[in-house]
Formats: sequence, C-alpha cells, structure tokens
Amino acid sequence: MARVLAVDDQPLNLELLAAYLSGTGCDLVLANNGFEALDAIAAGRPDLVLLDVVMPGMDGFEVCRRIKSDPANRLLPVVLVTSLNRVEDRVRALQLGADDFLSKPIDRNELMARVVTLIKTKEVYDKLDDAEHVMAAFAKIVEAKDGGTEAHVERVARGARALGEAAGLTEIALDAIYFGGIVHDIGKIGVADSVLLKPGPLSGREVELMRRHVSIGVEIASQLRSACSVVPIIKHHHERFDGNGYPDGLAGGHVPQAAMIVSICDAYDAMTSDRPYRHAMSSADAIAELRRGSGTQWDPDLVGLFLSRVMQEPADADLSRISLAVPAGSHNPGGR
Ligand SMILES: [Fe+2]
Repeated sequence: MARVLAVDDQPLNLELLAAYLSGTGCDLVLANNGFEALDAIAAGRPDLVLLDVVMPGMDGFEVCRRIKSDPANRLLPVVLVTSLNRVEDRVRALQLGADDFLSKPIDRNELMARVVTLIKTKEVYDKLDDAEHVMAAFAKIVEAKDGGTEAHVERVARGARALGEAAGLTEIALDAIYFGGIVHDIGKIGVADSVLLKPGPLSGREVELMRRHVSIGVEIASQLRSACSVVPIIKHHHERFDGNGYPDGLAGGHVPQAAMIVSICDAYDAMTSDRPYRHAMSSADAIAELRRGSGTQWDPDLVGLFLSRVMQEPADADLSRISLAVPAGSHNPGGR
C-alpha cells in the first residue's frame, strides 16, 4: 500500500485531501506543519508528499529543500499544493527539487491523476535502485573472489567521492563516482580464477583475458538504465594520462574525469593492501608510487588534489606523518 504524507497548516484542507484520497487505498499520514512533516519522513519514508506552500514557521519551499537535500530522499516525489501561480514561485519550487504542482482549490480528478502517476513512477525508481543494489552486491562478491575484502570497494568509493568533491564536481556526479567506485571492476566476475588469482606476472594471453573485465563490466552496466552513469567509469578506469592505457588509449583530458578519479583511489587502496599475488606496500611507498605516475599514468592535478585534500598530506611531505581523511585500503595500481 502506497504511503502518502499530506502537509497543511489548515485542518480543513487535510480533511479534504483525506476525503478525496479515501477510495485510493493509500495509507495517508497527516502533518500540520513543516517540522511535523520532516519528523514523519524520518519516522517512515512515504512514497509521495503533498506539501502546502504557505505555512507559518517553515514554508513549503523550505520543507521541500530540506527533503530533497537528503540523498536518501532524492527519489521521493514532492508535489507542492499552492495558490501561488506566479512563474517565479514555480521556478523556485522546481529549483528546490519539487516534482509537480497542484493548484488550490484542489480538483479531485487532478489530484488522483497526480498521485497515481507519481506513485507509479516511484515504484519504477525503486526498482532501478534495486538494480544498483544487485550490482553492488556482485561487485563485493568479485572483490572477495579477487582476494580483497568488501571494505575495499567501499573505501575506493568513499575516497573517489572525496576526491570528486575536492575537484568541485556536482552532487549528481559525486553519486555516480561513489557507485562507480564500488562497481568499476564488476566485469572481473567473467575472468577465470586461474588468471585473476595467479601469483606472479601474467602471460600476454592472460593480460588480454584480464583486460576483458572492462568490456564485460560495460556489458553488465549497459543493461541497467540506472547504471548508465557509471559506464564511462567502468570503461575507462584503466586509461592512462599519457594515452598508454586501455581499452581506447585516451590521453590527458580525454580520459573521463570520473574514471581518472576512481583509478587514483583504486590504485592507492590496492597498493596498500595484500593480494594473493603480492604483498601490501606502506602508505609512504604507495604515495611515492602515485607521485612517480603523476603526469604519465594519472592526471597530475588530480594526484595533487588526492594527496593534499583526501590524504591531507602535510606541506613538508613528511610521509611518516600522513593523516588519512579516508581510511586506506586495497587494489592494484592500474596493473591488472
Ligand atoms: Fe579494473
């Protein structure tokens, strides 16, 4: 049963909404002001919010802004119910993330149409979210198969998000980077253990098989609409700044920034973790390795940002006293 939260400071308006929605089978939750509305959302997330705009204390614009600024609510549809018909008000509401409008006085048919449509859309979004969850679960299985731990992909994702934030990327891009940090190696699910876990160097043929994890990952992610934003990350996380990476040999600014960000965080975490085929490096050695690869393997600006903002490396570069903004972890320096 869909749960609808109706917010209005006028009890009569809430009664009217309740009467109109009584035949729909929705579970209706009522709130008399913005504060009650935010509490109700925190207590049990609704599937739709019908939100009055003009209310004392906190108006509907502010309630909408607060709802939408929580990433957990980004798919929760919010309909502003308003007698304000000025274009500026509607533009402002859209900028704050409102999904739709209903004009007062409320027309029953219009209300029903909006509610049914938005709840159906939310169901679709919820399914897409489930697809992301399935991908993340697969990525963690792959990581375990690769001899790492579930925490590795989480650390890469958090580090990549922090580096993206330092680079000034938008929230939407940061969400994609976080998810990309988790699933970038999902294609390893299609690589044989004899290759994935081989101690020592790989033969030419084995390198070729290992590299296929990129195209396999792209194939998996391309099937899922909700995962399309991470396809460039999966596809290009083994490109190099000097153009000697794979699969496309992109160079410099042609390497998608999100893929380069994940590559740097993944490399650092890999180098500082034990794998079946090699031992972990110290943090200082891994940083030295990042510096060596700056301008050849990795974008020097992003390596600089990673060291100064994510690792919080001191200016005098005393590597024995590095403090981590993000917990360190595992993966490989773009090798495999
Ligand atoms: Fe990879």
